[in-house]
Amino acid sequence: MRRAVRFLMALVVALALVAWVGSAIVHRTTRAWFEKDVSLRAQLVVSGARQALATHWRKEQRSELQGLLAEIAHDERIMAAAACAADFTTLTRTKDYPDQFGCADLGPHVRPSADSPAEEWKAWGTVATLPGGDVHVSAIPVLDAEHPLGFVVLVHDLSFVQRREATTQRFMLLAFGLLAATAAIVTIVTARLAWRGWSDELRGILRSGTKRPEFQPILRDVRDLVDRIVAEKQSDRDGGAWTPQRLKHTLNRYLHGEKVVILANREPYVHEHTKSGTIEVLHPASGLVTALEPVMRACSGVWVAHGSGSADKQTVDKQSRVAVPPGEESYLIRRVWLSPEEEKGYYYGFSNEGLWPLCHIAHARPIFRSEDWKHYQAVNQRFADAVCEEVDSEDPIVLVQDYHFALAPRLIRERLPRATVIMFWHIPWPNSARLGICPWRNALLEGMLGASILGFHTQFDCNNFVESVDRFLEARIDREQQGVVQHGRTTLVRPYPISLEWPVRWSSTTPPAAECRRALCEELELPPNALIGVGVDRLDYTKGVEERLLAVECLLDRYPEYRGRFTFIQLAAPSRTVIERYQQYNDSVEKLAARINERFGEGSYRPIVLLRRHHEPPVVFRYYRAADVCYVSSLHDGMNLVAKEFIAAREDERGVLVLSQFTGAARELTEALIVNPYDLGEASAALATALTLSTEEQRDRMRSMRAFLAEFNVYRWAGRMLADAARLRSRDRLTGRLTDHLAAAAR
Ligand code: G6P
Repeated sequence: MRRAVRFLMALVVALALVAWVGSAIVHRTTRAWFEKDVSLRAQLVVSGARQALATHWRKEQRSELQGLLAEIAHDERIMAAAACAADFTTLTRTKDYPDQFGCADLGPHVRPSADSPAEEWKAWGTVATLPGGDVHVSAIPVLDAEHPLGFVVLVHDLSFVQRREATTQRFMLLAFGLLAATAAIVTIVTARLAWRGWSDELRGILRSGTKRPEFQPILRDVRDLVDRIVAEKQSDRDGGAWTPQRLKHTLNRYLHGEKVVILANREPYVHEHTKSGTIEVLHPASGLVTALEPVMRACSGVWVAHGSGSADKQTVDKQSRVAVPPGEESYLIRRVWLSPEEEKGYYYGFSNEGLWPLCHIAHARPIFRSEDWKHYQAVNQRFADAVCEEVDSEDPIVLVQDYHFALAPRLIRERLPRATVIMFWHIPWPNSARLGICPWRNALLEGMLGASILGFHTQFDCNNFVESVDRFLEARIDREQQGVVQHGRTTLVRPYPISLEWPVRWSSTTPPAAECRRALCEELELPPNALIGVGVDRLDYTKGVEERLLAVECLLDRYPEYRGRFTFIQLAAPSRTVIERYQQYNDSVEKLAARINERFGEGSYRPIVLLRRHHEPPVVFRYYRAADVCYVSSLHDGMNLVAKEFIAAREDERGVLVLSQFTGAARELTEALIVNPYDLGEASAALATALTLSTEEQRDRMRSMRAFLAEFNVYRWAGRMLADAARLRSRDRLTGRLTDHLAAAAR
């Protein structure tokens, strides 16, 4: 009904427009016709009376001439007439002849010059407006045997034209209205009939499950989609917001509280010796850790990781386990020890010189060495064994994380065929042509397909993965289920965009924004009105730190008003420093910062403050809160949780996020200022915009992004994967039972 009203309203507007344009056209056209008509008529009248006119004219019989003009003016449409001599003097005129059409004024239109011969005399006419309405004035030469005597002026009343115009317009509007109404009724009736027919047919198909084969794939897709949407909606409605409690509840309800085992190379708590001989606990700079640690705190279980801290061995029990978080002890870290050769081959070599640049489009050449590959295989086996030691059932839930463990899912499955293995790939997945660079790409794909669920941040990564399988392996792509089927087993390949806990725990312990700002300005000797930009990254070439500093340089170049006022603070955690490419990057970032400081520094002012050391999360949160703008300029990034952390830190709803379009986060945080980090003009303009954005606009953008993060938090991320895993488990159990049953019946 509402749609029909909207359609009718649109029709009325369109009609009004058409009528308006139509009436203007009608007005102009009828005017032109009538004018032409009147001038012809005037000429006819004069030529009809020419003989008599010429006779009286020649004899200069003015009173006869006047009588003749009066007779002509008897016509109801001719208002007045005048006879003008060849020298433009008035011979005679009727009583009401208007003064403004004097013979002297009109004469030059009839006779172009004083010595113009007879053939150059011409009739002339125009429309003029008098207080009583429009009139048409015609001046027509009077010739006596080719000899010009003068001219006659006839003034026609045009009010009849206006009357006829109005009548024509009325008819036209009526015709238009009738036509449009008929067209509208016919359209609505036809559309309704067509829609009813179509939906009846569709309903019929859905109800009866038609046998027509062409409908089967679309029917399956529609049913599957509807089921999934209903299930998701239902689960959101049932539970409300996702919290640690709800995640725990999901685990208990759907997975019977089974223990969760996480396998990730990086451990969430690293024990390090300090210079003073004590042991400190550090939180490593890793998006993976930021996201998964709260999940582990909520679910309990074991996190199997590489024991990389200098004091790690001293802090574990005989089974290489330590309870964390310190003071809370809600789950265990199981540390696996690697020899320096293993670490070099598996972690630095294959993982970070091979797979990392392979998966990121950041202009670093992947290096694949067969010794590294051997270590990668062996270390994957060692970690898979450690996982199997930690589980306490035949069908545990194991969450395998990231590119360090592409082979682990299959290795775990070989030992525990009924395990539910969820693998999440935290970095982008390359297209198949690029994956082809890796000599062991098939083994990697086979290894990952050991998982029950394979998660990526975006659908784009899922598509790339499925396309790679299609290209390199003998496997069936099941688009209906979003999965890959190999050896009769299905691996679901689905997007699960990762996020943060909500609220982030550091938020509650960080002082308010004004205080953070004041303390920071004091610490870095910045004036209290300084404009502050912040960047927080591991020193990694994929993060676009060079491009970021260049954008700051460009900003100071193009907008001199920020010189001396804007300071960009880059927190840069040294990372993978054993690798040459990272050392080079470290040096080039340092040189670049020095060059820009040299160029724009003055007195104590330095535009770039490069802080190259590890910062613990509470410190990072102080910087987020103090900043006017945070710039995330990754050249390629799976998600990028720094962007989300900045939003989470800004309880004051102030500050602006400038975000690279090449991050997964850019698909979700659409209220950020999204830029191409390679385009320094665009990025520097975005920084300038960020620094001038009104507080209302900052608040609106922040509020919307914070609401998004509150809903789409990491508990939801984990909950969704666990719920999918639960569905898979119950399906597998049922089909397992059925197979046993059939086998028993056959015996
Ligand atoms: C990325 C990877 C993580 C990794 C982190 C830090 O976010 O996806 O798996 O932990 O970088 O790198 P690192 O080599 O120090 O663990």
